[in-house]
Amino acid sequence: MKIAVLGTGNGGRAHAAKLAELGHEVFVGTRDPQATLARTEPDMMGNPPYKEFLAEHPGITLLSFGDAAAASDGLVISGIDGHNAVRALSAIADQLAGKTLIDYGVPFIYQHEPEHPWPTPWGVMPKLDPVDTDSLGEQIQRALPRTKVVKSFVTQEQSTVVDPASVAGGDHTMFVAGDHADAKQQTTDLLKSYGWRDILDVGGLVCARGLEMHTHLHEAIRFGLGGQEHGGHFGIKVMR
Ligand SMILES: NC(=O)c1ccc[n+]([C@@H]2O[C@H](COP(=O)([O-])OP(=O)(O)OC[C@H]3O[C@@H](n4cnc5c(N)ncnc54)[C@H](OP(=O)(O)O)[C@@H]3O)[C@@H](O)[C@H]2O)c1
Repeated sequence: MKIAVLGTGNGGRAHAAKLAELGHEVFVGTRDPQATLARTEPDMMGNPPYKEFLAEHPGITLLSFGDAAAASDGLVISGIDGHNAVRALSAIADQLAGKTLIDYGVPFIYQHEPEHPWPTPWGVMPKLDPVDTDSLGEQIQRALPRTKVVKSFVTQEQSTVVDPASVAGGDHTMFVAGDHADAKQQTTDLLKSYGWRDILDVGGLVCARGLEMHTHLHEAIRFGLGGQEHGGHFGIKVMR
């Protein structure tokens, strides 16, 4: 398939590399391809400049967000920073129309009051906005009525989403939420191709609220396992 991955961060790189490895044509979206290629410093999370990643993955094509979405033949993954995703995706609504969009963003605000010191690269515990009564997934769906939005992947590090067998031999649970059965099936098929065996459909997109709010627990577990140095290499198992 021709699949678009919107985002050049850590998670977007994990999906782009895995999809290319699986034989898909991968189109990665960024705000300004020339500016992204000109970067020489690691990003906030310490990821090396994107041109180094591209040099190691020659089959991947870097385009603008809109051109990457247009190049997809039906499936788009959004790895755009959660606080900016609605605006960025709204601007390319035409290119996303009729397609499935899997969103794993977290609507984090890093600078806010009152701050709470936290041993993360950004120094404070980020705040979720929206939360409780709305979610990023639902906001994206409202902004893109011609696109089928699915919330998934968000409860784990993307390095483990694309390689589930690396945690407990793959015996952990991945969630999908959305209002379109065919789009959730597409997402489930993709997850199976990544190696997932335990995929739980939690229902409508309203359930994105809980999936996004899990982020705070995810970080707490990470600290329990050894702090920020721990790569987040763990998963959740729903025991029935
Ligand atoms: N990384 C993970 O394992 C993981 C796991 C679960 C959830 N999440 C969540 O998923 C989202 C993506 O995470 P990530 O680590 O893959 O990448 P990220 O570093 O959070 O975001 C990178 C992408 O966001 C874009 N971006 C940043 N500011 C923007 C703005 N003002 N307007 C438009 N685009 C903007 C960047 O564009 P450029 O390419 O132009 O720089 C880049 O493509 C985040 O919300 C994160 O919290 C990540």
